[in-house]
Amino acid sequence: MEHLLLTLLKNSKNSHLLAFLRIFLTIQETQEWLNSIRTQDKSIGFVPTMGALHQGHMTLIKKAKSENNIVIASIFVNPLQFNDKKDLERYPKTLPADIEKLKTFNCDALFTPTVEEMYPDGNEKTNFTLDLGMLDKVMEGAHRPGHFQGVCVIVKKLFDIIQPNNAYFGEKDFQQLTIIKTMVKMLKMPINIVPIETTRESDGLAMSSRNVLLSAEERKNAPVIYQTLLESRNTSFISVEEIKSWVEKQINKNPYFKLEYFEIVDSNTLAPIHTIKSNTKSRACIAVKVNSIRLIDNIVFN
Ligand code: PAF
Repeated sequence: MEHLLLTLLKNSKNSHLLAFLRIFLTIQETQEWLNSIRTQDKSIGFVPTMGALHQGHMTLIKKAKSENNIVIASIFVNPLQFNDKKDLERYPKTLPADIEKLKTFNCDALFTPTVEEMYPDGNEKTNFTLDLGMLDKVMEGAHRPGHFQGVCVIVKKLFDIIQPNNAYFGEKDFQQLTIIKTMVKMLKMPINIVPIETTRESDGLAMSSRNVLLSAEERKNAPVIYQTLLESRNTSFISVEEIKSWVEKQINKNPYFKLEYFEIVDSNTLAPIHTIKSNTKSRACIAVKVNSIRLIDNIVFN
């Protein structure tokens, strides 16, 4: 199957506009360019994405630009991390608009490979698994079997190809961020993982590529998720159990929502916290189903 980008370039009257953003489809051309960067002793910042770029991604690019000599982003919708094939099929694909956004934010290069380039032996044949203990069993891990192993496979492959000095990840996917930090430590990869605070719409909704899939009514109601998280920190609650049942009621009373989970977890180990007065640094994490779309969010709890 021809890469969408090639079709775009063939049909584009404005292909000269792509001059300032280097676009690579293959591992070899990406590595050749990055090797030439490294020989000039320049630092490399990396922003891995699945495309459908929004302001949250742009915050990552901006931060990476401020901390590195060059910044490379990747756009690759990784089939291995989708446990639900329908979710993969409807995942928004907006490459032409993404390219324009990357250019606006002066991103230096984009690596956007095909599935065949990343998984030449077929994506089901990878035998890389990481023992993440409970990190990939709780919350998202419990509801999306195999998801985090799929994330680890692709992020490791991308890190091996790009070999960045710094890699940037949003805190909206807090469990993913924790798992990637753990993987880098376990595999002793010389990469600094930089967490970036969640970017929010003006009404508080966490920015996500999936937000465009919401109907107008669902979108209007979606800020309730963040409001509920904020109110869960209310000091008058006397126990974690009380908070959990209050959150469940708040979310499920909205006709558009179904709570998938709400957990207060240790920020480092992701182990559930059972007492509010604990001194442990903790996060409140939530996943809500809006029809068939899943939205996740989290806040610092303690
Ligand atoms: O967060 C994402 O967009 C993806 O999980 C990532 C890290 C690019 C891996 O496919």
